[in-house]
Amino acid sequence: MRTAVIAGGTRGIGKALADRLATGWNVIGLGSADADLTSVKETRDLIGRLPSRIDALVLSAGRFSPRRIVTADGFEQSFAINVLARYLLADGLRPALERAERPVVLNLCGVGGIPGGRLHWDDPHLTDGYRMFRAIRQGARANDLLGAGFAGHYPGTPIRYVLYNPLFVDSGLHRHLDQPARALLGVTAALFAQKATAAAVPLERLLDRPPTAALTALRRNVPIPLPAAADAARLYALLADMI
Ligand SMILES: NC(=O)c1ccc[n+]([C@@H]2O[C@H](COP(=O)([O-])OP(=O)(O)OC[C@H]3O[C@@H](n4cnc5c(N)ncnc54)[C@H](OP(=O)(O)O)[C@@H]3O)[C@@H](O)[C@H]2O)c1
Repeated sequence: MRTAVIAGGTRGIGKALADRLATGWNVIGLGSADADLTSVKETRDLIGRLPSRIDALVLSAGRFSPRRIVTADGFEQSFAINVLARYLLADGLRPALERAERPVVLNLCGVGGIPGGRLHWDDPHLTDGYRMFRAIRQGARANDLLGAGFAGHYPGTPIRYVLYNPLFVDSGLHRHLDQPARALLGVTAALFAQKATAAAVPLERLLDRPPTAALTALRRNVPIPLPAAADAARLYALLADMI
């Protein structure tokens, strides 16, 4: 039986995907009770506890905060979980993935979909002028680059890396906001966003039949241009330096 590890598999889109895969896959759905992915040590310990052969790794854990929160490692929280942990998981689980027949990493992210998203190369932890949407935009851009960085770093790997932006999904994300933004986003999501159960359908297909290209970027199901390799290599170097 194929094994899928879903970081962020206890809630929202990741949980809906875990439920869809429940028959036919061995699903390991992870949440903050399994490991605090804002911590480099806990993330590394978690990697050590996971199976030695993994067919699919889904990167769906994330958190944003209206206020700047600093982790025990001294990193800005959303950068730690949305960027650094995904880098550590994909890199650390690469040997386990490479033992599978058709391994795939599925990164749920912003892939080109959030205008103005850029890396603050000199201040990635946003010590100067933190704003939640600045952190979200930076995280979205960084994840685009993580996929390109992985493909560039491991050119011979059989692992297919898929960057996927599900667009607006009613997953309960508004619970992280203060009022009145929480109520406003909650109502807007209930009216206009896709349900998490529906968002999980194309994700299951991608895990079942991974694309043939080493790196694929999709906004819902529409392919979009791949991120620049030079910036991706720069982010990889920055993250390696950080840890
Ligand atoms: N929803 C959207 O409209 C949308 C749009 C585009 C992209 N995305 C991206 O898709 C991904 C999933 O979104 P979602 O809306 O489904 O998210 P969500 O409902 O907020 O779920 C987040 C998941 O991350 C886990 N998590 C949070 N903090 C953690 C920590 N410190 N350590 C370990 N796990 C932690 C949560 O586990 P616990 O509940 O156990 O804490 C939960 O399983 C995110 O990366 C998001 O940026 C979402």
